[in-house]
Amino acid sequence: MTIDKKFIDQFVNVASKAAIASSYFVGKKDKMAADKAAVDSMRRELNKMDINAEVVIGEGELDEAPMLHIGEKIGTKNGPEFDIAVDPLEGTNFAANNLPGALSVIAIAEKDNLFKAPETYMEKISTKVKEKNVIDLDYSVKKNIFNLSEYLNKKPENLTACILERPRHNKIINELKDLNVKIKFISDGDVSGALLVTDEKYSVDIFLGTGGGPEGVLSAAALDAFDCGFQGRFLFQTDKDKQRAKEMGIDDLTKKYDLNEIIKGDSIFCATGITTGDLVSGIKIDKDKFISETLVTHKHSNLKKVVKLNQKLI
Ligand code: FBP
Repeated sequence: MTIDKKFIDQFVNVASKAAIASSYFVGKKDKMAADKAAVDSMRRELNKMDINAEVVIGEGELDEAPMLHIGEKIGTKNGPEFDIAVDPLEGTNFAANNLPGALSVIAIAEKDNLFKAPETYMEKISTKVKEKNVIDLDYSVKKNIFNLSEYLNKKPENLTACILERPRHNKIINELKDLNVKIKFISDGDVSGALLVTDEKYSVDIFLGTGGGPEGVLSAAALDAFDCGFQGRFLFQTDKDKQRAKEMGIDDLTKKYDLNEIIKGDSIFCATGITTGDLVSGIKIDKDKFISETLVTHKHSNLKKVVKLNQKLI
């Protein structure tokens, strides 16, 4: 089974409308308002679609997030069954402070093909390498870098690793420094960070470190279409997280997941720029039009492109 191509434009529309809605709050120092605008828009547009979908990665649990929460049913119900992962505003700090890299992100797979998980942290690694036993979360940083160096035929000092700049990553950062690997530090936005391995133009060979689990699942959807490798391991820290994970059917809480255990079959991924970043430009206004850029992938048709839309000001 595949996802009908007619849905590509519809999901691009959903992501771009959410980005436009959030763009009103860029630089207003109000993360919540920027997020709410994106969430409300995304939910409204998804509910207009002839789909029968469930949010499997969303804004949190029902008690914390009234909208687009995990388990919420979405769409008119007159259409195919999908699993949906959303991050209506990825990079709340970026939007609030008018910094590069805020995105509206959505990923779609057929029912039961996208990993359902509570909101927790995830240890992640992405590279161009798809073969097993070359890059692995269980290997040391040194072993992964040496293996990648051999695989790409590049000396470690010519490799670049992307990582969120966080104290929890000090050990990894020191190991990378000892190996003379160049580091691209990002302050937020690790969906984008994980996707920088997809194209040589970004000059990133490996993305690693711990970030949001939902962001990991969303990245995996795009990385699958780009034929890249990804591994993730959820980090369930609190008793509540562990309990929820068990309820969602996750028995082994320390399991390491390969990309195709996180997303299977056909998928669509859309990421629209709110502020301009590495992947796409942000929302611009030209006379009476919003101009948006969306990175879109459709696994089955091997689609990977940036779509530019001109939409009338609302
Ligand atoms: P928000 O958009 O929810 O603020 O997330 C931004 C982000 O940088 C993600 O891209 C990343 O996965 C996560 O936060 C990292 O979390 P933390 O800031 O707690 O290290």
